[in-house]
Amino acid sequence: MPTPTSSPPPTPPVARDRAARYDPFAVGLHWLLALGFLAMLVLGSTMTGLPLSPTRLKLYNWHKWAGVSLLALSLLRVAWRLTHLPPPAPPMPAWQHAAMRVTHAAFYALFFAVPLAGWSYSSAAGFPVVLFGVWPLPDFVPADRELAEAIKPLHATLAYTLAVTIAVHVLAAFKHQFVDRDGLLARMSFARSRNPRAVR
Ligand code: HEM
Ligand code: HEM
Repeated sequence: MPTPTSSPPPTPPVARDRAARYDPFAVGLHWLLALGFLAMLVLGSTMTGLPLSPTRLKLYNWHKWAGVSLLALSLLRVAWRLTHLPPPAPPMPAWQHAAMRVTHAAFYALFFAVPLAGWSYSSAAGFPVVLFGVWPLPDFVPADRELAEAIKPLHATLAYTLAVTIAVHVLAAFKHQFVDRDGLLARMSFARSRNPRAVR
């Protein structure tokens, strides 16, 4: 029977793990890139349906500039991820852990594949990218109509694969947060979890 003066029992290692979070820089990059890629999916799928006009041209340029910027931020993110260990995963069934690893790996592959395919399509179509209208970027592929026609659906397919991956990821995150109530969201937030069942 503990006396009122006795110190609380030490926190077990698993409980400490569940309280672990990504570092603030990784959290900042996660949310910046999440918003950025979501905005690009909306912009990309909207702009292609517009009639030829100066507005459409402007949106195409914004899409390209933002896409190349997200590519650069993804490089920074990978460099950060490779040099900073993520917090250990919270307890979950092995299949969910495997699914999480596959989803995260797919994200990192798509962060590069989607913009690089877009950039290649732009070059193949004969429109080299001039970043922010100021810096001409190199072409990795020659201007070639047939090549452009082949890359265009590739960029779209990769982009919609990213959209599906995001949907799976968000559903899984919400399932953990609101069904399992394991405080998973706190791992990717700047503030501590207020979930009473998340062990701190
Ligand atoms: C409402 C939207 C979102 C929520 C609630 C959310 C939540 C989370 C959470 C809780 C984690 C940490 C998982 C863990 O504990 O290991 C995470 C990781 C991750 N999220 Fe999201 N996310 C969202 C949107 C997105 C979007 C749109 C993307 C991609 C564009 C994305 C990409 C990632 C990646 C790549 C990781 C793995 C981080 C790493 O280990 O390097 N997330 N997300
Ligand atoms: C960074 C992430 C990117 C995402 C999520 C994305 C997404 C999309 C989407 C959803 C479409 C519409 C596809 C369709 O329905 O046909 C699209 C079209 C397009 N994207 Fe991207 N994109 C990205 C990066 C880039 C980059 C970096 C470039 C070029 C430098 C680019 C160039 C284009 C072009 C030219 C189109 C129009 C293709 C057409 O005329 O049908 N994208 N993009």
